[in-house]
Amino acid sequence: MTTKIAILGCGTVGRQVLLQIHAHLSRLAALGRPVEVTGVLVRDPSRPRGLGALEGLLTADASALGEADLYIEVMGGTVRPLELLAPAIAAGKPLITANKALLAERWDALLPLAERGLLRYEASVMAATPVIAPLAQLGRSAGPTSLEAVLNGTCSYILSRMERGVSYRTALAEAQSLGYAEDPPTLDVDGWDAAHKLTVLGRLLFDPGFSLDRVAVQGIGDLHPEDLAAADRAGQALRLVAEISFEGGWRGRVWPKRLPKDHPLAWTPLSRNALLFSGTDGGTWLLSGPGAGGAATASAILGDLFSWAQGIPGPRPLGWVAAPPPEPS
Ligand code: NAP
Ligand code: HSE
Repeated sequence: MTTKIAILGCGTVGRQVLLQIHAHLSRLAALGRPVEVTGVLVRDPSRPRGLGALEGLLTADASALGEADLYIEVMGGTVRPLELLAPAIAAGKPLITANKALLAERWDALLPLAERGLLRYEASVMAATPVIAPLAQLGRSAGPTSLEAVLNGTCSYILSRMERGVSYRTALAEAQSLGYAEDPPTLDVDGWDAAHKLTVLGRLLFDPGFSLDRVAVQGIGDLHPEDLAAADRAGQALRLVAEISFEGGWRGRVWPKRLPKDHPLAWTPLSRNALLFSGTDGGTWLLSGPGAGGAATASAILGDLFSWAQGIPGPRPLGWVAAPPPEPS
């Protein structure tokens, strides 16, 4: 039986999702999971998007989504997506989302799907770089003691361009034109997008009750070229770092941090992301790769769609609070 897919959003990411699904229809059918995209929700269906015949799938009529068997949410925001998805969530239909703001701020509404392995969200953190599945495994096997990461591609892009003499404003405009930035981009530069992603990871790895209000947030808006130059003279690079550590409980922090230039998180040019995970046995793991952009993010959505097609459940919450790290001896 053909699975009907509804896509919410056809912007930077959604357009690429639609194209990539259509490029892989035969592979999905070969897995015994034929799919058909039955509708793509947008605000303005009349705006040309270079999709050829697929533009006929665009609609502003949310009632057209009700027929679907599987939902892909790439529209952003925390209120409207939930209004639209509430019936699907209540009916226990699989959901794939790239929306870290929704995951961070409305986990309560998504938890019933997550507990049943029906929620997949690999694209929400570090875009094309798999982190949710590998970290869920490490959370079970290695017991986390800390996490430190560069999670926002727009900020990495701006800072690495400023290192080359480009102005903050020009670098931000470039990041927006490349499809890296949120709408509005204050979510990126004020640190909230990284805080959303850190909340997703904190809840997955450290504490099921980890919430956004446990994260202290500072963005990059107050940085000046002199700050980057001073860091450079000291052999350091400035990056927006997101970290989780134990301070009487698991806490998060997002802030512009000076890193030695040979630190693994310092090598995050353009929109690259990187993450260092430390475990109770003293081991550390480095995950690094593309962290933003339409095609990159859509590839992670496609990966989630294939995992659904192969019957691999979405990551279930760990269900326990990680032990505090051992005191240094
Ligand atoms: P975008 O380019 O702004 O696209 C948003 C899409 O949603 C547009 O097609 C828009 O319709 C539609 N939309 C928004 N509000 C709507 C509403 N109320 N009713 C109907 N349609 C609505 O955003 P994006 O960059 O693709 O990001 C989408 C999601 O993916 C966000 O949650 C973002 O955080 C996440 N994400 C993005 C990236 C990235 O690199 N861009 C990476 C990872 C995750 P119109 O086209 O008609 O305006
Ligand atoms: N705006 C986000 C970023 C997109 O710049 O990292 C990827 O999640």
